[in-house]
Amino acid sequence: MSIKRSVIAGTGSFLPPQIVTNKDLEKKVDTSDEWIVQRTGITQRHIAGEDESTVTMATQAANKAIEASGYKPEDIDGIIVATTTPDNTFPSVAVQVQAALGVPPGVAFDLQAVCTGFVYALSVADSMIRSGACSRMLVIGAETMSRILDWDDRTTCVLFGDGAGAIVLEAQEGEGTVKDRGVISTHLYSDGRLKDLLYTDGGPGTTGKAGAIRMKGRDVFKNAVSLMNDIVGEVLDANDLNDSDIDWLVPHQANIRIIQATADKLSMPYEKVVMTVGKHGNTSAASIPLALDTAVKAGMIKKGDLLLFEALGGGLTWGAALARF
Ligand code: UT7
Repeated sequence: MSIKRSVIAGTGSFLPPQIVTNKDLEKKVDTSDEWIVQRTGITQRHIAGEDESTVTMATQAANKAIEASGYKPEDIDGIIVATTTPDNTFPSVAVQVQAALGVPPGVAFDLQAVCTGFVYALSVADSMIRSGACSRMLVIGAETMSRILDWDDRTTCVLFGDGAGAIVLEAQEGEGTVKDRGVISTHLYSDGRLKDLLYTDGGPGTTGKAGAIRMKGRDVFKNAVSLMNDIVGEVLDANDLNDSDIDWLVPHQANIRIIQATADKLSMPYEKVVMTVGKHGNTSAASIPLALDTAVKAGMIKKGDLLLFEALGGGLTWGAALARF
């Protein structure tokens, strides 16, 4: 049976050049390199400079993804940007990227599901492509988390970083099996009863300001381990696959211990898990496309590989996607 699939035609990413190491943070807050590495695996993070923002980083990542795909900005007919840190309350980051790249009038909007944002955006873009609404879309995750951190709160400020990742997703014909290239299945969840575990203490509709990140880290950690374990099992069951069928786990990069717990559940050797949290920190919606591009550019992920994406974030929101590269 011939069906429409959304195939990843190119990847790109951008990290701001300014690096802040754990040692740098030791000078500002009551923390230590040892604590951060042991509890999270993070050694450094990239932080946006004064002239950089979610729009500028998203634009650079998108530009590289378009170049890698071999297409031109005028070939794109839809843009979704997953972000929690837009430059403006409105207009969206997506329309600003559209204008900066010279993408012709078409669909462009932001999607907010915090750290799960990229998986949500991938799912929405896949639906739009399969329905025929769009045929070649940019799906971007971009965040300037440094601007919504309380730099006096050691429980959060050591965890996050800035950056952007992007893919070009295009319609291609498939056979309707897991052997097809493209997005095979997506699995999205949220549970608003858990909203107080991870949130900002402000917003445009309340304080008129973005607010800063507040997190009950231990509770988020416990939920992340158990919900990620459940969802990777769901993806395998839904597609009648075994652990060994997955070539690469490309997880949200929040904490190396959460990632390793999910890999253990899948019996995946850590060499088959893309881990960028050490160098990037938690870049929220940008982390999966950043990790994907890093692994593609390093020659690890190759055409035809079966990829499993998974993420959890504020909301709580969580999700996973299976795609053949
Ligand atoms: O991306 C969105 C989803 N987010 C996540 O998945 C994050 C999930 N949570 C985590 O990754 C972990 O819970 C953290 C890395 C945030 C914290 O690690 P933990 O092992 O859960 O530590 P904890 O919160 O239980 O804190 C242990 C101790 C506390 O001291 P006491 O109460 O035991 O005396 C904290 O005050 O570590 C202390 N602590 C720190 N010490 C040095 C907390 N932050 C720091 C710090 N430096 N930066």
